[in-house]
Order: sequence, then structure tokens, then C-alpha cells
Amino acid sequence: MRSPWWTGLDLRVLHHVRGVLRRRGLELTLVEHRPDESAAFAPLFPDMPEAAGLAVITPSIVEPELGLVVAMLGEAAADVAAVVRSRNSSESESAPAYGKRTAYHGIIGSAPSMQELYGLLERFARSASTVLVQGENGTGKELVSRAIHDASDRRDKPFVVTNCSAFNDNLLDSELFGHKRGAFTGAVADKPGLFEVADTGTFFLDEIGDMSPMLQVKVLRVLQEGTFSRVGDTETRQVDVRIIAATNRDLSAMVADGRFREDLFYRIHVLNVLLPALRDRREDIPLLVDYFLRRQRRARPKQLSAECAAQMQTYPWPGNVRELENEVERLVVLAGESPTISADLLSPRIRQWAPAEDAVAAADVGSLPAALEALERKMIGAAMRRHGGNKTRAAEELKVSRRNLIRLVQKYELE
Ligand SMILES: Nc1ncnc2c1ncn2[C@@H]1O[C@H](COP(=O)(O)OP(=O)(O)OP(=O)(O)O)[C@@H](O)[C@H]1O
Ligand SMILES: [Mg+2]
Repeated sequence: MRSPWWTGLDLRVLHHVRGVLRRRGLELTLVEHRPDESAAFAPLFPDMPEAAGLAVITPSIVEPELGLVVAMLGEAAADVAAVVRSRNSSESESAPAYGKRTAYHGIIGSAPSMQELYGLLERFARSASTVLVQGENGTGKELVSRAIHDASDRRDKPFVVTNCSAFNDNLLDSELFGHKRGAFTGAVADKPGLFEVADTGTFFLDEIGDMSPMLQVKVLRVLQEGTFSRVGDTETRQVDVRIIAATNRDLSAMVADGRFREDLFYRIHVLNVLLPALRDRREDIPLLVDYFLRRQRRARPKQLSAECAAQMQTYPWPGNVRELENEVERLVVLAGESPTISADLLSPRIRQWAPAEDAVAAADVGSLPAALEALERKMIGAAMRRHGGNKTRAAEELKVSRRNLIRLVQKYELE
């Protein structure tokens, strides 16, 4: 039998709170899940409101005492959570004793692919190596990068974010590395770059695939030697920065096409993680909806009607968790005072979404080339989605050459 999550923890604050409550005639218990009965309850991790926590089960407790007891439980829970966290991070790769996790540092999900992800992130947090985070739009690349930083021993140091596609080359150069006064028109004073701001901390370089070859060289140097110079400056500066890079492009294909430096690719690829698309972990949709509903309305979260929940369960969510989050936010507003959210409030694209008619079945009559093209387009689109845009893997699965696949992806505008 599995031992409960609290086995072996040093719970000093908890014992103190338990003593205080006992003197009031109340009994504190550690529970695996939020109790169904009436109770004062504080979850161990606010991200997992239904999971393990501290409870006082009592039908008679009323406000304002209830508020006070919940606050005390909250204090004890925070302390227990800290002990659990440090125990888990010192435990080698084994899963935590309290079983399947539904969240990790603000990342929500309990699918097998997410359990695997949490295990990986824990290991990545303990290392100082560069991480490459890949995944489709809205799969949580930034969230995951922040989680690695928050779980690492750099957590109290800066976490700096920049988006490499948001600037032109010269601006990005000065943004990343800083500049010397007079280096270019408008450089009226010396300015440190973000690498200096991120010193001793973590630097999240988003959309690294959009970085020009010239800047790729400079970043490579920081990675190899920890040194760089500000634009227009000859002085060499030294920093200690952990880099986490993200992209939704296929970097290995870009290396093959000569658009991304191979040496930089291998350097940032030391540790890498591919985030699953939401449609590949549909079992997490109810959990995520619930999380976002609670976040929108802490007091009395609204609920989805069965039809609304079912439609959200089938929709393919091309914009992944971000799209789902936005939809929930919108639904809560549209539902107004109603405690339930009905399916007619869903955005039209979600409400009206129905699985596409089978291309083969639809092709009994008509042009053979057109039907073949439709099938080709459908299969390639699906394979590309399954592999998060990774053409090498999509080509392997479809048993076509990578070159051929690239041509077809361009032909059908599937990128
Ligand atoms: N597993 C998750 N649990 C909870 N929230 C999530 C999860 N994944 C993503 N989100 C939320 O979805 C939104 C998008 O996440 P994020 O910005 O990290 O995605 P991204 O992969 O960087 O997207 P893009 O490629 O568009 O930049 C954020 O509000 C984030 O909090
Ligand atoms: Mg992002």
C-alpha cells in the first residue's frame, strides 16, 4: 500500500496549529482530497484546490470562526507544502508519495504526458544547463520556463524575459547586450543589456528561431564563455546566466536549411522538452476549465452545462491552453449572474465545430486528383499537429521523405 503524502514530514507548524485548534475543541486532519462534508479546508498547493490538504471537519462551525480556522489551516498548509516540496526535490527521480500530480508550479495537468513533464522539469531545475522548450502556440512554454526557474536554486535571482521576434536586429542587439553611449543615433547614454540584468538568474529567450545569424553568434559566445560586449564597446563583460530558450518552429529543420547555426542549436539543445498539445491530453480539459473558472470567480465559481462541457471536450483547441483560458474568461463574463454556463454562449467556432467529414467517404464521385489532394492535406495536417510541427517526425510517421513533406506542407500552406 502507498503511504500517505504526509508520512515522514517534519511538521512543526502543523503541530502547533493542531494544538491551538484542539484547545478550541476542533480536530485538524490531513487529507488526500478536499472533503465532501462541510469542513474548513486549506489545500496544500493553491493550484490544486481539490487535492491533498488540511481540514477541520465540523458541521457546526460558522463565520467568523470559520474564516479564522481556514486562515490558520492556510498557514500550516503553506509550511507543510514547503516541507513536501523540499522533500520532493531531494528525492531522486521517483514520483511524490501523494501520487499523480495535478499541478506543478502553476502548470495544470494530470495526463501521463504531464507527469512525465513534471519529472523532467524537476531534474532540469536542479541543473544549470540551457533548456530548449518547444511546443505549439499557447502550450505553456513561458509558464514552463518560469517553473524551471522557480524550482531552481536561482529562484530568488532575476527571471528576465525577452521575445526575439519583437525587435529588429539592431534593437535586439542593444536590448540583449546593451550599448555604449554614442554607439548609434539615439544612444544618448550607456545602457546595460538584459544579459547583465539577468546576471546570476535565468534568461528566457522566447522565439529564439527568429534571431539573426549575427546575434546567434553573440549568444553562442555567452553560452560558451559567459562573455560579451555592449554594442559599440570594446570592454568584455562576464555574466553567469542560465538560458532557457523557446520556439514553436522546427529548429532542426532550420539547421538543415542553414537558417540556424548548428553549434548554437547543439548548445541550447542540451536539455529539451516538447510540450504536448492540448488535444493530445484531452483528459486535462475539465481540470483546466475548473482551474480557470475558479481563478475568474474565487467565491462561487460557475459551472459548465453538460452540453457546453461536452463541446469543449471535442473541440481541437488549435490555440491550446491559451485559447481555452480566453474562452473560459469570455464565458464567465457572458454568463452574467447565472451560475451555469450554457453551450449557446460558446464562441461560434467552438459551438459549431464538428469533426470534418471523412475525405475518403466524401469522394465517391468527382475528381480523383482533388480527392487525393484532400486526403493528402488532411493526413499531413494531422501528422504535423501530432508532432508539434516537427517535420522530421511527421515525415517518419507518414513514411515520406522529409524533403517531400516540406514541399507538401508549403503546397497546402500547413505551417
Ligand atoms: N498547463 C497549463 N496550466 C495552466 N495554465 C496554462 C498551462 N499552459 C498554458 N497556460 C496558460 O496559457 C497561457 C499561454 O501560456 P504561455 O504564454 O506559457 O504559452 P506559450 O507556449 O509561450 O505560447 P506562445 O507560443 O503563443 O508564446 C498563459 O496564460 C498560461 O498561464
Ligand atoms: Mg510564449
